[in-house]
Amino acid sequence: MMNNLRHMMRPLDFSVEELDQLFDTARDIERNMSSYAHKCDGNILATCFYEPSTRTRLSFETAMLRLGGQIIGFADASSSSVSKGESVADTIRVISSFADICAMRHPKEGAPMVAAANSIIPVINAGDGGHHHPTQTLTDLLTIRSLYGSLGGFTIGLCGDLKFGRTVHSLINALVRYKDIHFIFISPNELRVPDYITDLLNENNISYEEVIKLEDVMPRLDLLYMTRVQKERFFNEEDYIRLRDFYILNEEKMEMAKKDMHILHPLPRVNEISVEVDNDPRAAYFKQVQYGLYVRMALILTLLDKTDAHMNHGLLRTF
Ligand code: CP
Repeated sequence: MMNNLRHMMRPLDFSVEELDQLFDTARDIERNMSSYAHKCDGNILATCFYEPSTRTRLSFETAMLRLGGQIIGFADASSSSVSKGESVADTIRVISSFADICAMRHPKEGAPMVAAANSIIPVINAGDGGHHHPTQTLTDLLTIRSLYGSLGGFTIGLCGDLKFGRTVHSLINALVRYKDIHFIFISPNELRVPDYITDLLNENNISYEEVIKLEDVMPRLDLLYMTRVQKERFFNEEDYIRLRDFYILNEEKMEMAKKDMHILHPLPRVNEISVEVDNDPRAAYFKQVQYGLYVRMALILTLLDKTDAHMNHGLLRTF
């Protein structure tokens, strides 16, 4: 069995120092991609996605392929034995016999934690319900560190669905550990950030404010993190239709922003950022997707204990 089995369930599973190392590896991958081409020769990544995805699943798969490994998995639970009633615990036991590492997305909060508790290979939470999306957070942190230059000393606006948005919850959780960050939460009343998040900020004496209008705070932002109003998290269509176009970032609003503000978005985008903004040099959301690949490559290397000279070539494990 692999020594020091580690999973990635929440952004706080790694210390600030460990994250720094991870981001240094990711930056090195960005600059020297070809030197990583055989780091995972003989290894297999399983992607078990019980919920739709484009970026997360394909960037994990690309990450393993770019590291020289191979991939197995399913992108749709209905094509796996889950449709016959197989549990997450049994599924991961089976996957553990085939693969060296697994990335799992599930609509139920906590499902990847159940998988990790029953696994003998590293499990990565690729998004669980409205709970966490730690590898999106790693992507966001690497993007901020690369574009802004540091993970502190800025005012960040988080705009849109702050109630159900797991990317927002995970990012705030992670940023709490860094210094001199002022949060501005921009949402309609119905989609306000949950109390447990504001409790966390209060406990840590971190400054924040909540506003409804983006225009009111735009000139003060160093970073703007836009999010989609997520149709799949609403209980009724009427509420979704009423709120889906509450925020639309367009050129007119961008004129109010600082010249060096960075716009981030975990994507997919629907209407909340007008396509005319894509050509603005401050739009960083497609660059952010690229950082997601580098950081997932770095995470796979870290969890497989391959960041230094001793390499694990395709070990088969047994319970
Ligand atoms: N950002 C993100 O999680 O995108 P996907 O749903 O396409 O994976």
